[in-house]
Amino acid sequence: MKTASNSDYRTPLPQGPVPRNPDMGMSGDFSKSSGVTFSRVSVPGPYVALTFDDGPHASNTPRLLDILRARNVKATFYVIGKNVDLYPGIVRRTVAEGHEIGNHTYTHPKLSSLGNDRVMSEIRKTDDAIVRACGIRPKTLRPPYGALLQNQRQMIHSTFGYPTIMWSVDPLDWKRPGSGVVTSRIVSGTNNGAIILVHDLHASSVDAMPATVDALLRKGYKFVTVSQLLAMGSSGQASTNARPSALVNAGQ
Ligand code: NI
Repeated sequence: MKTASNSDYRTPLPQGPVPRNPDMGMSGDFSKSSGVTFSRVSVPGPYVALTFDDGPHASNTPRLLDILRARNVKATFYVIGKNVDLYPGIVRRTVAEGHEIGNHTYTHPKLSSLGNDRVMSEIRKTDDAIVRACGIRPKTLRPPYGALLQNQRQMIHSTFGYPTIMWSVDPLDWKRPGSGVVTSRIVSGTNNGAIILVHDLHASSVDAMPATVDALLRKGYKFVTVSQLLAMGSSGQASTNARPSALVNAGQ
């Protein structure tokens, strides 16, 4: 019997073939001038970004990586710096399997109530931990609780080059509503250019991923990383921001 608190639960191996995401050999280079905040991106097709916050977690993240690998799905992991220092090997595996790593601060504070020095050190320590773990510098930030003031977003963008990445689909999986509910909320809320928020900290959230990913693939969605989604939104766009309507900025 599986319960939300049973962290030993292992997703059964797929019975028969599972749908497979196509290979997405596209660039993740996005124009730094394209925007400071995104909750979704206007893209020319059924592309979506699946994002996982608050890891890496010792058992849930590897289990999630197995699920994604079976389907050739690449995702973006907004990791907490102190967890990166605890489990650098999981971050290395995540990168080796084609996923993107993003910055989710070092101790997961509410940045909007901190002074600039604390904000910058939270972000810099995480940036450094990620580079130590996997050799790759992150390109985007997700603020814990989505809490970041507009002037902080500007400061972080100009210092680190990070756009602030919010989300357009939130299944409230951290409240543990049950896997079926998480799946149906994500599937019904997703449209082209969506950024989907999930937490790989929770076993019950990972439990929901096989059915969620399979349902979205069967609906024709293609999974890309956040940077690839941003790059697609700014493709053909001059660095002068000539076509700002190609991008949808989140409410600031
Ligand atoms: Ni978080």
